[in-house]
Amino acid sequence: MTKKDKLQADLEGLVKKWKDKKGNLIMILHSIENIYGYVPRETSLKLSRLLNVPLARIYEVITFYNYFKLEPPGKHNVSICMGTACYLRNADSLIEEIEKILHIKEGQTTKDEMFHLDVVRCLGCCGLAPVMMIDEKVYGKVKKNEIVDILSKYVKEEE
Ligand code: FES
Repeated sequence: MTKKDKLQADLEGLVKKWKDKKGNLIMILHSIENIYGYVPRETSLKLSRLLNVPLARIYEVITFYNYFKLEPPGKHNVSICMGTACYLRNADSLIEEIEKILHIKEGQTTKDEMFHLDVVRCLGCCGLAPVMMIDEKVYGKVKKNEIVDILSKYVKEEE
């Protein structure tokens, strides 16, 4: 079953389950977010047809709640701290470097779904500024020219 077919089947199943219940749109979107880790773009169009709800209403719900993500999660989540200490130590240059290497912007995921980039506020280890975190691992006093090597380790692990 392709990803597209699976999404269609999941949506049909969820619509069947929730169709006549109050708050069904949020419950269905919630379930999709739980299954996929985000709400795929094609979901809105399909849901609009299946529930007979205007597309604008669906987008309104998705964008109102921070809980819903429109980008797939990456296999590895890269967080760059832009709290005061990190900001003062040029954390923005780390963001620029990652964006350049991975060809994504903040909040996006690489096409191969390997990395997702987030910019966050204080990670609680300001003494190590500038700080980058990949999944649960903290990298302190990160230099721009170290980023390629750090990211490459995660790529090599997959090979
Ligand atoms: S400001 Fe970056 S860890 Fe505190």
